[in-house]
Amino acid sequence: MAVSTLPASNLDEAAVADFHETLLQSKRIVAVLGAGLSAASGLPTYRGVGSGGLWRNYDATQIATPAAFRHDPGLVWQYTSHLRRLALGAAPNPAHYALAELARRVPGFMALTQNVDNLSPRAEHPAAQLNQLHGNLFDMRCSDEANCGYIERGNFKDPLTPALAASPEEQDATVSNNESVKRPKATAWLLEGIARKNRQILGHDYQEAAPLRTDQAALKSGDDESTESRLAVVPEPSNIPPADLPQCPKCSTNLLRPNIVWFGEALPADIVAEVDNMFNDSQPIDLCIVIGTSGSVWPAAGFADLARKKGARIAVVNLDVSDVKNMRPGTDWVFAGDAAVVVPELLKPVMGSLSG
Ligand code: OAD
Repeated sequence: MAVSTLPASNLDEAAVADFHETLLQSKRIVAVLGAGLSAASGLPTYRGVGSGGLWRNYDATQIATPAAFRHDPGLVWQYTSHLRRLALGAAPNPAHYALAELARRVPGFMALTQNVDNLSPRAEHPAAQLNQLHGNLFDMRCSDEANCGYIERGNFKDPLTPALAASPEEQDATVSNNESVKRPKATAWLLEGIARKNRQILGHDYQEAAPLRTDQAALKSGDDESTESRLAVVPEPSNIPPADLPQCPKCSTNLLRPNIVWFGEALPADIVAEVDNMFNDSQPIDLCIVIGTSGSVWPAAGFADLARKKGARIAVVNLDVSDVKNMRPGTDWVFAGDAAVVVPELLKPVMGSLSG
């Protein structure tokens, strides 16, 4: 396991002790995981704290859709390739490793992750105890699911085709998580004000220039929806012909597509069935740990309540407590902090020799 140099958290000792006691008695545990789990690995979240930027200023909800793939598969593959490169450049953090270890030590533990970044498998989280609800960026399937059905798992090639190589401006296209936090936020109105001031000071020497994409991307923040919607522009075409995109090797007729759930798509039937079985069988659930998710996307947003109905106590780990909803004081726990610090601390009692 990777050695953590992260600082110790400031958690309430009594709450942690109470959680530890329940954890040690729990036979069946569910974890609901979201983008905040991977934030300390440098991957941007989708919303709120840690949301890192818009790819080429486009909103992901415009590009990661079946309609976008039908209209311009090159653009969707360029966006997916960008996400794949970010994930390949990141490493699992201590929370991924701690959850993987919990899975090895508690057979009744199941992690339901919304993340497609492959960091939990890379932390060697046992596959049978990890349900990747939204798929995985490194799996692909034939876009003609009904007639062909080809699926390829664990393809880490980059670029997938020469046309999908990182473009020179890719570095500038998205602001990374940390840069976004450091950058001052500015609205279009403020940028125009700065330009006016520069014109006054520099006179004829002032060179008019559009704000950098990175300046605009830094504007994206959970508390400024109006700015975000102003920045979501209609995507420019990729101009990549379908022949230059990943082809299905089985039917040799159709394109491959990423095996992830796009906006507007339902979860795969086998995943839904597996989760339904877990929440509908006769066995109680003792503990549900919800980590780094804003709880805005269903069905994952409802899992804690389903676990509660089966008797579970709920623990939430989030950097931003304002994202924590429907908690029951006295029974539930809210642990505010970075998942990479808080999760290993919470799981310490079952980590054995790893806790040292
Ligand atoms: P969101 O981006 O909606 O929420 C991330 C949550 O993590 C927020 O509540 C943050 O406060 C919290 N957070 C950020 N940094 C953290 C840290 N270091 N430690 C702990 N918490 C932190 O991400 P999800 O809830 O995962 O779906 O989003 C759900 C789905 O929405 C995604 O899987 C994706 C997206 O549409 C698809 O792509 C289908």
